[in-house]
Amino acid sequence: MYRSKIAGIGHYVPERRVPNKELENLMDTSDEWIVERTGISERRFGKRYEENTTMLGAKAARKAIADAGIEASEIDFIIFATLSPDYFFPGCGVLLQRELGITSTEIGALDVRNQCSGFVYGLSVADQFIKTGHYKNILLVGSEMHSMGLDFSTRGRNVSVIFGDGAGAVVLQPAGDSEPSEILGTYLHADGTYAEELAFISPGAHGGVFGQDQDFGFDKEDNWKSIFVTEKMLEDGLLYPHMNGQLVFKTAVQKFPAVIMEALQKAGKSPEDLKILIPHQANLRISQFVQRRLGLKDEQVYSNIQKYGNTTAASIPIALSEAYSEGRIQRGDLVCLAAFGSGFTWGSALFNW
Ligand code: UT7
Repeated sequence: MYRSKIAGIGHYVPERRVPNKELENLMDTSDEWIVERTGISERRFGKRYEENTTMLGAKAARKAIADAGIEASEIDFIIFATLSPDYFFPGCGVLLQRELGITSTEIGALDVRNQCSGFVYGLSVADQFIKTGHYKNILLVGSEMHSMGLDFSTRGRNVSVIFGDGAGAVVLQPAGDSEPSEILGTYLHADGTYAEELAFISPGAHGGVFGQDQDFGFDKEDNWKSIFVTEKMLEDGLLYPHMNGQLVFKTAVQKFPAVIMEALQKAGKSPEDLKILIPHQANLRISQFVQRRLGLKDEQVYSNIQKYGNTTAASIPIALSEAYSEGRIQRGDLVCLAAFGSGFTWGSALFNW
């Protein structure tokens, strides 16, 4: 068995800053409400009709590949985590392969659909492949272009003020015998009981069978008409993400500390051993709650949600990349990643940087 390490990292956020004040012009919301409830002051939005999720991911990926000191042609496996894919299918993994100019067909490309936990799930998959020696240079990307699919009217305000666009990427490789860098463990969890509490339900093939009492926007008249998207869904605004914010919040503040402690305990470590915790940037209040619960100092918890909002699968690699570029992580430091979100799915990863 090999040991795996993060060998390169990079991130990219679009240039356009969207302060809370700008959203006040679109919906009934306020800078005060958003800052108080989420900690977010602004987010970045990509350029419509010029940028997409794959392109943001490619910009982060090129930086991570350069940081690892390799060429894109040396990548032997791509893992792409997103909830805002460019196409319903195929996934962004193959689009990224094309965008990076990787022409080898010996490469595999996998899409991960675990939303906020997507990066941690992807890291776990990459870790297993490196450990077994199956692959040597795995590119893992988390990228989101949320701004394309949000409801910017007052109807969608509890969701749309939270999310932002961006991408982060890492390259995983086997660690050399004398290197301190090593992924110590990844821990994944899921509870499908709450699948619809944070979900983008239509378009899809669900046919409404999971929620007979809910209005899914079908007219149920024609057996041969596509019901992925109906006129009624468009009219009723059902083609947007739905979130039971309070339930997500309450569950998140339980699961985050538990899954972080799971990773630390399995490695024989405790919270004070952590150089830094990089939580998924869901809500500043959630991160602050987790910090208090684990007794962590301010410098042990990284937050950048203030300037980027919640970038879902991209939030952890963006935060990790920023923390690294700010000099807050040195080789050998103990780092914990933790995520919770739609599914519900949650997970953690512990490593020596
Ligand atoms: O990364 C994926 C995981 N997602 C999360 O972790 C999100 C977790 N949940 C949250 O962060 C919070 O639940 C929210 C920030 C989404 C909402 O905060 P909240 O304190 O739970 O607010 P609420 O949903 O209970 O709504 C309180 C009030 C409501 O008005 P009424 O019924 O009291 O009159 C909402 O309609 O705030 C209203 N509201 C807003 N007002 C201004 C909801 N969204 C907005 C808004 N601006 N954007």
